[in-house]
Amino acid sequence: MKIITSIEEMKKWSRLTRSRGKTIGFVATMGCLHEGHLSLIKTSIAKCDTTAVSIFVNPTQFSPNEDFDSYPKCIESDKQILQTTGTDILFNPNQKDLYPEKFQTFVTVEDKTNYLCGTSRPRFFRGVTTIVLKLINITDPHIAYFGEKDWQQLEVIRTMVHDLNMDVSIVGKPIVRDKDGLAMSSRNCNLSKSEKNSARVLSQALESAQALVIQGERSVENIRTEIRKTIEQKQGTKIDYISVCDPESFTEQTEINSKVLVALAVRIGSTRLIDNRIIGKI
Ligand code: PAF
Repeated sequence: MKIITSIEEMKKWSRLTRSRGKTIGFVATMGCLHEGHLSLIKTSIAKCDTTAVSIFVNPTQFSPNEDFDSYPKCIESDKQILQTTGTDILFNPNQKDLYPEKFQTFVTVEDKTNYLCGTSRPRFFRGVTTIVLKLINITDPHIAYFGEKDWQQLEVIRTMVHDLNMDVSIVGKPIVRDKDGLAMSSRNCNLSKSEKNSARVLSQALESAQALVIQGERSVENIRTEIRKTIEQKQGTKIDYISVCDPESFTEQTEINSKVLVALAVRIGSTRLIDNRIIGKI
């Protein structure tokens, strides 16, 4: 695996790879790699001739009161993990190269970012779309893979790619969970043992919602009440949002008449976790 830190070198590699007729798969990450990332990377390796993975903790997607400083960083173990996967390129750029002094251009997707994480994290999506656009411009992939755990992020990225006529396919991959249902996330590294135990309540709450719908419940209010009850049974949890919404527009629903996205953001101690599930008639 080749490690590239320079933007120019990364662009050169992409140009050369494309000129040789080879396809490029790309996985953008903020590091502290887990099975969720690995499922994206393995798919890219299986489907594309070459795979580039980026590791960059993007400061513009964090508000000043958020966890940029405490976001887990494990670059040495990440390199070792990537070596074992067959990844061709690790792109590990510097902050000053990606955001030089006087940087002043941001990309914003409008409507879809006014809900869920966009409400509780006002800078988040602007930062994500800006860095993803930059990384795609630099790595120039044929296909970029993103996880469905960040469902809204994936939809926002799809919208940006469509609206800006970008020449890349965006592929989403299902959430990877541990044996107890906890969705894989780099932020899980910041949970204590007892917090990790409490964090399982997110997937349990989603399962309880699914079970209600299977039993015939159609009222979103009743489903939300059940989710709230399940989460609040665990000490140390603080609900940020419980949303039962349209999976593409994110508008809240009142009745389950079609497929809906049930999305949660919950604080476990000081760590904010998200999870989601598609439920309802398909
Ligand atoms: O999902 C993430 O890890 C980040 O939001 C991303 C897409 C790498 C952009 O920084």
